[in-house]
Amino acid sequence: MPADRVREKFSQARKELAATLIERDEEIDLVLTALLAQEHVLLVGPPGCGKSLLLDSLLSWTGGKKFSILFTRFTVPEECFGPVSLAALKEDRYVRVTTGKLPEADFVFCDELFKASSAVLNTLLKILNERVFDAGDGVVRKVPLKLCVAASNEWASPDTGKELAAISDRFLFRKVVRPIMFRVGRESLLWRRRHDAVLSTTVTPDEVHAAHVAAAAVPWGKDAKQALEAILVELAKEGVRPGDRRQFKAVRAAQAYAWLNGADEVRSEHLEVLAHVLWDAPEEQPEVCAKVIAKIANPTGMRITQLLLEVESVIAATDVRNLADAAKAAAKLGEVEKQLAGLSGNGRVEKARSYVKDQLKKLKLASIEAA
Ligand SMILES: Nc1ncnc2c1ncn2[C@@H]1O[C@H](COP(=O)(O)OP(=O)(O)OP(=O)(O)O)[C@@H](O)[C@H]1O
Ligand SMILES: [Mg+2]
Repeated sequence: MPADRVREKFSQARKELAATLIERDEEIDLVLTALLAQEHVLLVGPPGCGKSLLLDSLLSWTGGKKFSILFTRFTVPEECFGPVSLAALKEDRYVRVTTGKLPEADFVFCDELFKASSAVLNTLLKILNERVFDAGDGVVRKVPLKLCVAASNEWASPDTGKELAAISDRFLFRKVVRPIMFRVGRESLLWRRRHDAVLSTTVTPDEVHAAHVAAAAVPWGKDAKQALEAILVELAKEGVRPGDRRQFKAVRAAQAYAWLNGADEVRSEHLEVLAHVLWDAPEEQPEVCAKVIAKIANPTGMRITQLLLEVESVIAATDVRNLADAAKAAAKLGEVEKQLAGLSGNGRVEKARSYVKDQLKKLKLASIEAA
């Protein structure tokens, strides 16, 4: 299938996921970008904020061989990498039977990643990083793995050991998932009884590969190049120094995100995805990184989030029974809507505009009723 048709599939899946998953647009974009870049993605957030729902939905979209596992401290390597062959043991050989297990999967979901024991993590590290596996016979084979998605309730802390820090670094894309913030989001959560995504297409590993190749060929615009270099300089000044591997891979990450957004070159606004790439330590650095990118590249997606947060705080602070108050709020929402209308290059603009228009309508109705 030509890459453009696959791009349509990605865009359809993106819409369908966003239609059921509440306030997860950024996470959806991130996992789709990860799939395109074929770089692993880790979501960290409190229990019940839709991490598994999103990652399961993503894996239900992809064809190919899949492997999901929920780690506990007691998960043994056999559950992940397959049991040791008894027939081979009789011949004094130690070989794992990997049928249906992680080493044979195209797409992998590791839930509660940081609960895994060292025995599991050590092997996993090699699979994630070098994409090879030794079943025990001393032969290092390439694994078909294209993408590993993972979730956790908390970050690995430096005191929990080197392995966890190392495994955390294997995930190029890392993002905190926050609980639902907006009022309408909460209403949908409460009163819509089904939240699982209904996806009208599936994507095969070959199609993912074609998309991966097409995305990697997206050229970088001059402004975006300069912006990326400026971001790295500014980050260093702020004490954030992502490793060389991260910096190198950031180039492909932005290309994948640009391709997902239908662009034919990487522009500054596409650098917003690097807010989940260009930092090392999860304490404070993600915020610094997002701020620096917002300042230098002023990406559309970040601007949308900022404007929507403004809308939310205007609504929360408005007493609709007070006509002057309501009029002021309506004017502010109108202003936000105008600003949104001036933005482009991000699939979320239209959705955000219709949300603000809806809120404006509701505000006007409420103040008429109250009068
Ligand atoms: N943003 C959301 N959109 C839609 N449904 C949601 C959202 N957040 C939570 N839910 C609802 O809550 C349920 C629990 O979410 P899920 O199991 O994905 O959480 P989780 O983040 O994986 O939690 P845990 O860390 O405990 O594994 C979902 O099946 C869904 O019904
Ligand atoms: Mg979960």
